[in-house]
Formats: sequence, structure tokens, C-alpha cells
Amino acid sequence: MNRPTILTGDRTTGPLHIGHYAGSLSNRLRYQDSHEQFLLLADAQALTDNAHDPEKVRRNVMEVALDYLAVGIDPGRTTICLQSHLPALAELSMLYLNFVTVARLERNPTIKDEIRVRGFGRDIPAGFLCYPAAQAADITGFRATVVPVGEDQAPLIEQTNEIVRRINATAGHEVLPEAQAVIPKAGRLPGIDGKAKMSKSGGNAIPLSASPEEIRKAVRAMFTDPNHLRVEDPGRVEGNVVFSYLDAFDGDQEGLEDLKAWYRRGGLGDSKIKARLEGILQELIAPVRERRERLAREPGYILDVIRDGTDRARERTEATKRDVVDALGLFQL
Ligand code: TRP
Repeated sequence: MNRPTILTGDRTTGPLHIGHYAGSLSNRLRYQDSHEQFLLLADAQALTDNAHDPEKVRRNVMEVALDYLAVGIDPGRTTICLQSHLPALAELSMLYLNFVTVARLERNPTIKDEIRVRGFGRDIPAGFLCYPAAQAADITGFRATVVPVGEDQAPLIEQTNEIVRRINATAGHEVLPEAQAVIPKAGRLPGIDGKAKMSKSGGNAIPLSASPEEIRKAVRAMFTDPNHLRVEDPGRVEGNVVFSYLDAFDGDQEGLEDLKAWYRRGGLGDSKIKARLEGILQELIAPVRERRERLAREPGYILDVIRDGTDRARERTEATKRDVVDALGLFQL
């Protein structure tokens, strides 16, 4: 049985939130049967913009691994592995940096945007500027052909394929496969404050480990339509965070359409739609939180999962590195 290989990963900078669930985790659960799936705990990549706080990067390896297992990632079917312990990925990165120019890295829309948002200017860490080459190493190191990422990461896959084509052209045969980005249709969930991006650091996310009280507070605080002052006023559904979340999580999409029509007409209060959403989120998160709490009491088990997965991933990535070194015709000892 030859299933296509999928690689995705997360920087280990904080626990995952329901935006991750809607955008990627729920798909990863489905891929467990149809694909050979690797999940990368991207601690080395996390360091490229967190070198001032390696403790945060270290601590969150366990948190992200816990999140994976709590939502139902099955280590028997999906390989969970730790990036910093896969030296072949670092070696491939160094090789790939010779197949990409600084100008091309600076033009990468993902990098350009992140430089602007983080205010790096010319003081950008070299590791950060070069992380597209490192991500190319991740993707090709596993010989992944399918890479589900958010829309903002699509340029990284494009740049990966450019590097792949250069290496293949230099070698004179296909050493590495090109990869296909899979962008989730649903798009990104906004933060509870209505900002485009839900983020661990922005304080506008609902973590998968949220308590019932935290969920209740977050839904109450959610941005709706600032002009929907009285219940009888017509309300806007677009840009209304409660409806964005209902779109993502409500199992009864027909009922939801009726609700939207009612809200637009007027007569439906924010508290009603918030109560509906809160119920849905409480139900979604409760089993995840419970599993997470149970697993958190077994750190030895989590470590074993990461160790086993990383051992498997090491074999795989070492083999790719040997292939690339051979194909480039470097000296053999
Ligand atoms: N860049 C991804 C993120 O910010 C994490 C990541 C690292 C990744 N390596 C990867 C994603 C390889 C897909 C494939 O979340």
C-alpha cells in the first residue's frame, strides 16, 4: 500500500488553539488513514525568531505534543518527531542555502510580511531569513508530496519546489519530488477580538486546554457587529466573529443559515448566538481538555512517543540526505 506522504508541523512557541483545530488538526485526523503522516515539532524553526527565549521553545515541545495526542492524533498511525533532533534536516538546510539567493529569500512574501510584522528591518536574524530553505529541508527530507499549510505559508512551498528543481537539474535526474500545498478551504479563524489572526501571543485565542470558565468568558467577549445595538436592529454577519466560529464548528449548517437570515433581519440578540456558540465550543473542547489533563500526568509516555517518532523520522531523513549528497556528486569516503 503506497500512501502519499504528508508533512506538517508547528513551531513550538505555545499551546495550540481552536484556530489550529479548525484549520489543520481536524484535517490531520482524517489524513491518518489515507496518508503516511509526519508531524514535526518545529523547535529549531521556533528558535529563528525566539532565540532570546529558548526556554519557551523547549517547554512548548511537550505542550504541542500533548495537544496532538489530546485531539486524537494516534502515534501508531502518525509519526510525531522533534526537529532539533533530526540532524539530517540541518545538513540539508546548509546544502539548500547554496541553491537560493538572499534576494530571493527577501522577496518571499511570507518572509517579507513577517519581517514587517515583527519589525526586524535589517536586523533580521539570518536563521529567520533562511527558514524557507530549512522548511524546504523539512519537506523534502521526508519526501513529502502533500503539505497542508495556511494560505500565508503557500510561498514557502513554492520556494521549496524551486530548490527541488535546481537540485534535480544539477543532479541531472529526479532526486527529490516536488510538493503540493494544500490550503484549507475554510480560511483562517479570526481572533475573538475580530483581528485577522488568532494567536497564542495576541491574547485573542481560545486554547484547546481552555477551562469551561475561560471558554465562557472568551465567547462573551467576542467581537460581533458594533452597530447591532438593540436586539431589533438588523445585524451584520460578515466580519462577525461569532458567525465565523459558527461557520467553522456548527454541525447544523442549515439551522445556521436560518439564524443568519434572522440576525440580518433584526430581532436576534448577540446573547442568543453566543449561547449557541458557547454550547458548541464547550462540547468540542471538553473531551480534548479531559484527555489532555490525563496525558499530562504521564510525561514519560509523551516522551516515549516523541522519541519513537524521532527515531523513525531520523532513518527517513538520513536516507534522503545521503541521496542528495550522492546526487550532487560530493566526495565519498
Ligand atoms: N512554518 C510552520 C508554521 O509556522 C511550521 C513548519 C515547520 C512546517 N516545518 C514545516 C509546516 C514543514 C509544514 C511543513 O507553523
